[in-house]
Amino acid sequence: MTSEDIRSRFLKFFESRGHKLVPSASLVPENDPSVLFTTAGMQQFKPYYTGAKNPEADFNSKNVTTVQKCVRTGDIDEVGDDTHLTFFEMLGNFSFGGYWKKEAIAYAHEFITKELGLAIDYVSIFKDDESGIPADEESREIWKSIDSNLTVTEHKKEDNFWGPTGDEGPCGPTTEIYINGVEIWNIVFNEYYKTKEGQYTPLETKGIDTGMGLERLLVQAGAGVNNVYETDLFDPVLEILKKLSLGGEYHEQNARIVADHVRTSIMLVSDGVLPSNKDQGYILRRLIRRALVRIRPLAGSFAHEAVHASASPTGLEIEPAGSRSVFHEIIEGFFEIYKNTAYLNENKKHIKEVIFDEEIKFRKGLENGFKEIDKGTIDPFILWTTHGFPIELTMEIAKPKGIHIDLEDFNRKISEHQKLSQTASAGMFKGGLANHEPATVELHTAHHLLLAALQEIVGPSVKQRGSNITEERLRMDFVCDHKLTDEEKQKVEAWVNDKIAQGLNVVRREMPLAEAEKIGAEMEFGAKYPETVSVYFIEDKDGNHISKEFCGGPHVSNTSELGHFKILKEEAVSAGVRRIKAVLG
Ligand code: SER
Repeated sequence: MTSEDIRSRFLKFFESRGHKLVPSASLVPENDPSVLFTTAGMQQFKPYYTGAKNPEADFNSKNVTTVQKCVRTGDIDEVGDDTHLTFFEMLGNFSFGGYWKKEAIAYAHEFITKELGLAIDYVSIFKDDESGIPADEESREIWKSIDSNLTVTEHKKEDNFWGPTGDEGPCGPTTEIYINGVEIWNIVFNEYYKTKEGQYTPLETKGIDTGMGLERLLVQAGAGVNNVYETDLFDPVLEILKKLSLGGEYHEQNARIVADHVRTSIMLVSDGVLPSNKDQGYILRRLIRRALVRIRPLAGSFAHEAVHASASPTGLEIEPAGSRSVFHEIIEGFFEIYKNTAYLNENKKHIKEVIFDEEIKFRKGLENGFKEIDKGTIDPFILWTTHGFPIELTMEIAKPKGIHIDLEDFNRKISEHQKLSQTASAGMFKGGLANHEPATVELHTAHHLLLAALQEIVGPSVKQRGSNITEERLRMDFVCDHKLTDEEKQKVEAWVNDKIAQGLNVVRREMPLAEAEKIGAEMEFGAKYPETVSVYFIEDKDGNHISKEFCGGPHVSNTSELGHFKILKEEAVSAGVRRIKAVLG
């Protein structure tokens, strides 16, 4: 049985039982800032469980079915074993007050045993515990009425209760189906709403939320398939990896990790994520880099003794083909695998470019990082924040040198650093708290471009003296000894618009204050900065920084997100200080 067979059988099964087919939502949740990624099929339906939205008005039905793209990175260190993945598809049926336990259990039983002809090992139900939520005896009776021989195990909240995603939301007890000892299908009875304060309040309308991982099911349903990497969703790519590994010993686990991470990266880029040091972009960057360090010539091409001396983590030897990414064939392999889905087809060129750009950046970071290492220092925190070294690469390099890496210390610094970034962005706009409205964020990036343009066209003596950004316009005060001429204004506009048209990446890096000063990042006159600062770089295609400013953000990730830049007014503020007001149209 193929992945496509299972997807279509599942959807048809539920469509023919009164469910409306709804497309997968994006991997980046649209209206749920409390979570970075879509991790479950029910996420796009949260408002239907709470009554905030009406399913009949939107779907013409109280019952829907989906195949949902999901990303979960909590178990990233387990990836490479037989079952864990960072991206997977989840088959689900959902009801918002349409049906309840009896129907949900009967559908699941019928689909598994009759439609797919698989034998259920056992099922589990919710057992009451200290939380005060009662045991789910009703589900036991339903299962037993369907098959009196079925083993029913019972477990506390830890195992048989699901949700909510994020800080608050619908959640409830579950009943789970196991096949050959593996959890295959999670059926959630959404009857509670967990508040931010941690209280469980009953939902007015009870809902059903089920989720079954496609890859895991495929292992059970496919003949002769022993693990997720042998399914048709991975096997062709692993074959490609085997062919590409030149003479080196083929390292199965690393090949699996490369395949998993590249697949997830492709899916994330397709849904609009770009590599960065923040949020979804940070995860994407880590995935790409974790995959890259498992390919030997990438590190080896720098002929660095530290990498050569280390027992390479890879065993995968892929020659980068000229100007193409080392991942080129792998990416093409996944395009082929998913050609009949709606996930990737429209964005192929963009996906390849983004991943390749990140690869090039990483290579540069490696070169610089290795220079630091040659000086004799291995500081995993600086290597990660400044040069982009994943911790596993630093450990590989440190090992043969007999240098101990204190992981706890590294993790603590990273988490402090992330807290600091949040504080920094909170203080972004003078006179207010950070404003994350897209229009304001875009104008903020335009503000950086404007300063760079003024320094380029009017001269390097231009320095910022004040700024104010609203959703409508930006305002910048700057040191300048003359009224700008019309020609200067036009040149500044053209310069900024050219950078917007070039689609340049906006990259945030954390670094020690001294280093940021050394590289000449623009700073606010008279401001006091902490020891570690955040600097935003706008990089041209050759990796040159056309702008670098101390800044907490937020910013767009690419200048192509900005509209047309226009100066509205240029005027005097005081002797030697001018003011520009500008907009994006
Ligand atoms: N929300 C549940 C899960 O993700 C069932 O869909 O497991």
